[in-house]
Amino acid sequence: MQDDITHDNFDFRGFSVENRHETELRRDEEERSAKKKARAKAGKSGKADKPGKPGKVKSAKAKGGKDKAGKGGDVSVALPDKSADRAASDKRPLLFTPMQLRGLTIRNRIWLPPMDMYSAYARDGKPTPFHYQHYVSRALGGFGLIIVEATAVCPEGRISPKDVGLWSDDQIEAWRWIVQGVKDAGAAVAVQLNHAGRKGSTGCFGVGHDGESVPFDEGGWQTVAPSPNAYGSYAAPRELGVDEIHAIVGQFAAAAGRAVAAGFQAVEIHAAHGYLISQFLDPLVNERTDEYGGDLEGRMRFLIEIVDAVRSVIPEDMPLLVRISATDWAAGGWDLGQTVMVSRALKEHGVDLVDVSTGGIVPDVTIPVGPNYQVPFASQVRAHAAVPTTAVGLITKPKQAERILRDGAADAVEIGRAALRDPAWPMRAAHKLGVAPSDVPYPDQYIRGAY
Ligand SMILES: Cc1cc2nc3c(=O)[nH]c(=O)nc-3n(C[C@H](O)[C@H](O)[C@H](O)COP(=O)(O)O)c2cc1C
Repeated sequence: MQDDITHDNFDFRGFSVENRHETELRRDEEERSAKKKARAKAGKSGKADKPGKPGKVKSAKAKGGKDKAGKGGDVSVALPDKSADRAASDKRPLLFTPMQLRGLTIRNRIWLPPMDMYSAYARDGKPTPFHYQHYVSRALGGFGLIIVEATAVCPEGRISPKDVGLWSDDQIEAWRWIVQGVKDAGAAVAVQLNHAGRKGSTGCFGVGHDGESVPFDEGGWQTVAPSPNAYGSYAAPRELGVDEIHAIVGQFAAAAGRAVAAGFQAVEIHAAHGYLISQFLDPLVNERTDEYGGDLEGRMRFLIEIVDAVRSVIPEDMPLLVRISATDWAAGGWDLGQTVMVSRALKEHGVDLVDVSTGGIVPDVTIPVGPNYQVPFASQVRAHAAVPTTAVGLITKPKQAERILRDGAADAVEIGRAALRDPAWPMRAAHKLGVAPSDVPYPDQYIRGAY
């Protein structure tokens, strides 16, 4: 497989934060004036008020052409599937159209990304009442898919001693009521399975040693990785033997089986942010000379084996997602071209959606963080690997999120930190975008509080 996009030749400038932001502001302004004109016209002709959407679509097309020149230009725009098509024709924002992944119907395209809560207080990998409150509140708040945080496939695979896990059967029961609570609130629920590799055994609130390795005598452990090089100032990992690699593949599959038993409706494999799988992928981290290192085929072998193993234990109609860092933002490292190639392979191996993030692999790099800063990567993966994607990263405003879908840059958006401060972000978005409360997933108990 060959591809012509690499980190080096991909033009980030067209997507610079400032440009994107200005473009969005301009579009918003155009939309506002188009709406105004449409309202005035409808008023004159006595027609029912169609609040501004014709203007919106027109303006999106005009601007979309410009914005995507030479980059996302070949992304087919705006209408991700037939249900969206229908909804667009009745003017419903794409954010509030359902999405189908295999046998799973997700009620909208506003998803909660995995966010580690470091709250398995007993350090036994079991979720707690905090997790119930955290996830169920956001399901009640209208999110379509809740992707539960990095969940370790073995104790050494935890990022911190207080990470949750699915490495043991006695953890299944602890998840079941949370999973059921999320479903009862109308959302779909996925779990992100993770092995932290050389970024494991790190501190967090309540444990101490924030941003550094936890010493063995305080509950830390020897970390493992494809090669014995350390992440920044973290303790050096031990290089994994081939038998151990095979065992970890089996641990991912076993954890996926437990996820199914707990009632999860989808599985996401965490291949991003510099954890074990992305350590294997990255040429700056993986120095192996055996079949799990070297060229891209070797470096992606671990991920593909995990995908195959997980796919073989989950039901045929259950979606499988992979989260990937599209670049490590370091010269000579992991880049968009490799991400596209891996995404194509993932699709061939039964992955239904790529959750596109960036970074976390190599320390001390400069990341141009700002609104939408990772959206171009989701767009490129969607266009060049022909696989559904989600966009994530500083997507905080309803119109901004809707625009990403209208541009065809992604099939769904993920709202992370903004959802930590606003569990009902989707309800607020519905209000801002003019969706009638009757079309929003308000729980019966909350309908009297509708915007
Ligand atoms: C508290 C916190 C914990 C996170 N934990 C995870 C995690 O477990 N797995 C993961 O893939 N990303 C994790 N992330 C990254 C988020 O999923 C998301 O990609 C990131 O916050 C950017 O999106 P945002 O700007 O909407 O917050 C975490 C982020 C935060 C803020």
